[in-house]
Amino acid sequence: MRPMATTESGLPFEAVYDASALDGFDPQQRLGEPGQYPFTRGVYPNMYTGRPWTMRQYAGFGTAKESNERYRELVAHGTGGLSVAFDLPTQMGFDSDAPVAHGEVGKVGVAIDSLDDMQVLFDGLPLDEVSTSMTINAPASTLLLLYQLTAESQGIAASKLTGTIQNDVLKEYIARGTYIYPPAESLRLISDIFAYCHQEIPRWNTISISGYHMAEAGATPVQEIAFTLANAIEYVRAAQAAGLAVDDFAPRLSFFFVARTTLLEEVAKFRAARRIWARVMKEDFGAQNPKSMMLRFHTQTAGVQLTAQQPEVNLVRVALQGLGAVLGGTQSLHTNSYDEAIALPTAKAARLALRTQQVLAYETDVTKTVDPFAGSYVVESLTDDIEAAALDLMRQVEDKGGAVAAIEEGFQKNEIERSAYATALEIDSGERIVVGQNRFALDVEDPYEPLRVDPRIEANQSERLAALRADRDNDEVQRRLEDVRTAARGTDNVLYPLREALRVRATVGEVSDALRDVWGVYVPRDAF
Ligand code: 3HC
Repeated sequence: MRPMATTESGLPFEAVYDASALDGFDPQQRLGEPGQYPFTRGVYPNMYTGRPWTMRQYAGFGTAKESNERYRELVAHGTGGLSVAFDLPTQMGFDSDAPVAHGEVGKVGVAIDSLDDMQVLFDGLPLDEVSTSMTINAPASTLLLLYQLTAESQGIAASKLTGTIQNDVLKEYIARGTYIYPPAESLRLISDIFAYCHQEIPRWNTISISGYHMAEAGATPVQEIAFTLANAIEYVRAAQAAGLAVDDFAPRLSFFFVARTTLLEEVAKFRAARRIWARVMKEDFGAQNPKSMMLRFHTQTAGVQLTAQQPEVNLVRVALQGLGAVLGGTQSLHTNSYDEAIALPTAKAARLALRTQQVLAYETDVTKTVDPFAGSYVVESLTDDIEAAALDLMRQVEDKGGAVAAIEEGFQKNEIERSAYATALEIDSGERIVVGQNRFALDVEDPYEPLRVDPRIEANQSERLAALRADRDNDEVQRRLEDVRTAARGTDNVLYPLREALRVRATVGEVSDALRDVWGVYVPRDAF
């Protein structure tokens, strides 16, 4: 007898599903109509028949000028939304000339030190027409304000701006690591952002609560959505504790998940996540506005499943992963470039990644009908099974006192590392086939020419910073930085003094240091 197959989440995967899978299945109660509570079938009534998902390719490297050129190319090739990758010094709130930044300037994303750099980054791009996602977490408030000030300098009002800041620091403590301040101060800053955007930038998505990075670190689909939704619950609680009404901020929460090659389970995962979130917001938090119950999400195809061997095979993987995201009802999609396991994507690889989405959107028929898997024996079974397993794991987090308490004891990290280790063993043993890597490998790989980033980037940025500091009113900058410290010590919303400091060209590092001076930095328990 063939051993019972299991899904990526370790759930039973039947060789044959039949009508019994839908015994007692009440479509109205379990699914609802598309665009209706509990949104299992999708957040909009007509989904892609009304508007395709946003093709939003994550990009950014080197100087603001180089990245600006790539954004213009992507817009010219038909991308619908921008997605900014920042280098590590920016993500960690350090200036390019800080000693700790050496060797990282402009490497994994664009270097942004000041309002001057941000104005170069978005030069010539229609900020009142495109939506811009910024993958920035601990300094998210700073980059959002720089974006607002840049739009203002282009004559565009904040009320017109649409986009997203990732701003999800809890997952940074669990995976990825670009945190600065301790959890309590981070949650205060995130609540300040919710309040600020509700007042000043009402169409902005204030957070992108991410499962992607936990998945890339090894989380199973059930762990991915359970830990993400547990983090989301922590943010909602913090915002309510800060005095915000749930329907004032919840409609602008957004999410970010991975799409693995295991397409059927991924479709079920997205449907289960929507149904769980809708119930949590309506039943646990008393949300009244349906928009507060809609789990709107961005998807990126699974980077960790790309191989450096026979990289063209990744084009097939990305197409299947992108198909899973679309069948699962994503609102926005990034398709990885086939060469990303080797180096920064070449322009041609980035264009092919976008073309993959365009084939899905314009040559297949998956945009012609909503939630095609509704009523499927296998997908409805998997949706129910994943929902049950995720709710159980969310209860375990809750029993530990919630996401922050569980993070403090390392619970999520340990669970994810256990899953990652099991997967690695399966690949090493050959039980899990990775085409081109542990099966169907080549003796000699084809030649490949990687993209090269200008090595003078660090010197250029340091020169720009020296010129900026010589060219601004430093006394005014110091006064504004002290205003930031005063707000951080008290309960006033820090974004207002932060904005005025950035306006007079305080740098990303200086405003981040002003908050470090008051709040300190997070040191994980297992750091020593
Ligand atoms: N019917 C009616 N209205 C529709 C519709 C339909 N079928 N489809 C779309 N719309 C409307 C929406 O209501 C929205 O209007 P609104 O702004 O007034 O509400 C508008 O059209 C745009 O639609 P969406 O909001 O669905 O699509 P967006 O693309 O604008 O937003 C999002 C999607 C998920 C809500 C948003 O948060 C987003 O864009 N997130 C992207 C996050 C991202 O790119 N992250 C990158 C991370 S990379 C990273 O982390 C690092 C690396 O290591 C992985």
